[in-house]
Amino acid sequence: MKTLKERAAGTPGTGLRIDDLHVRFSGARVIDGLSLTVAPGEIVGLAGRNGAGKTTTLRSISGLVARSGGVIELDGVRLPSRPESVARAGVAHVPEGRGIFADLTVEENIRLGLVRKVPAAQTLRGALEEAFPVVVRLRDQKAGRLSGGEQQMVALFRGLIGKPRVLLVDEMSLGLSPRALLTAIEALAELGRAHGIGVLVVDQNSRMLHEHCDRVYLLGGGRVRLWDDTSNIASAYFE
Ligand SMILES: Nc1ncnc2c1ncn2[C@@H]1O[C@H](COP(=O)(O)OP(=O)(O)OP(=O)(O)O)[C@@H](O)[C@H]1O
Ligand SMILES: [Mg+2]
Repeated sequence: MKTLKERAAGTPGTGLRIDDLHVRFSGARVIDGLSLTVAPGEIVGLAGRNGAGKTTTLRSISGLVARSGGVIELDGVRLPSRPESVARAGVAHVPEGRGIFADLTVEENIRLGLVRKVPAAQTLRGALEEAFPVVVRLRDQKAGRLSGGEQQMVALFRGLIGKPRVLLVDEMSLGLSPRALLTAIEALAELGRAHGIGVLVVDQNSRMLHEHCDRVYLLGGGRVRLWDDTSNIASAYFE
């Protein structure tokens, strides 16, 4: 039996674990027994058709929707339910629609990603500036003036700057050109591996997820229908 102290300390290095998650909206079972894991340094895809519950899954990890059942843990410790506390525990979320504040500058938006007190030298700012030079160039612009793809790069930059334990990215490819998408997902995978950050990526483009993720989960009927570390879930996805 673990002591209380050991339980509070959790299990270092086990990453994100969701077990038997249930979410209901007005009685409808949108998430109905979903289980998945994301280990530190791993990049994992979450695919599924429109309305399958991908955004709801990410929002329930972040405490933005209430769950009716199930366990969500980070390194063996249950995540708190309030969004600010989840963020402080080390979960960063790039939401559907990007969550950019139009009236703030790019730099001000980015600083919002520093919710945890991280010494300046320990942020990923330097590596992100190399990966996203466009963001550096636009630093003093009002974020609302940026193109959709530029805003997505700012959202990814903000998500990673505080070196989270886990990064959740909804609609990864939104607004990004194929080339910008490739650069961005390679940067996520590399930084994730280098710093032990688990990355959970939602996208409509399951082929892209298969090309770049270590594993891909397919969501259907409110739960994982299939997870796959090989290259083809197309038949299940389109059936
Ligand atoms: N706050 C809410 N209240 C009621 N129903 C909701 C709410 N949020 C989501 N839903 C419903 O839950 C289902 C799953 O929605 P969700 O946004 O998680 O899907 P998704 O997989 O992200 O889809 P998409 O690929 O279109 O983004 C949908 O049927 C949606 O209408
Ligand atoms: Mg969605």
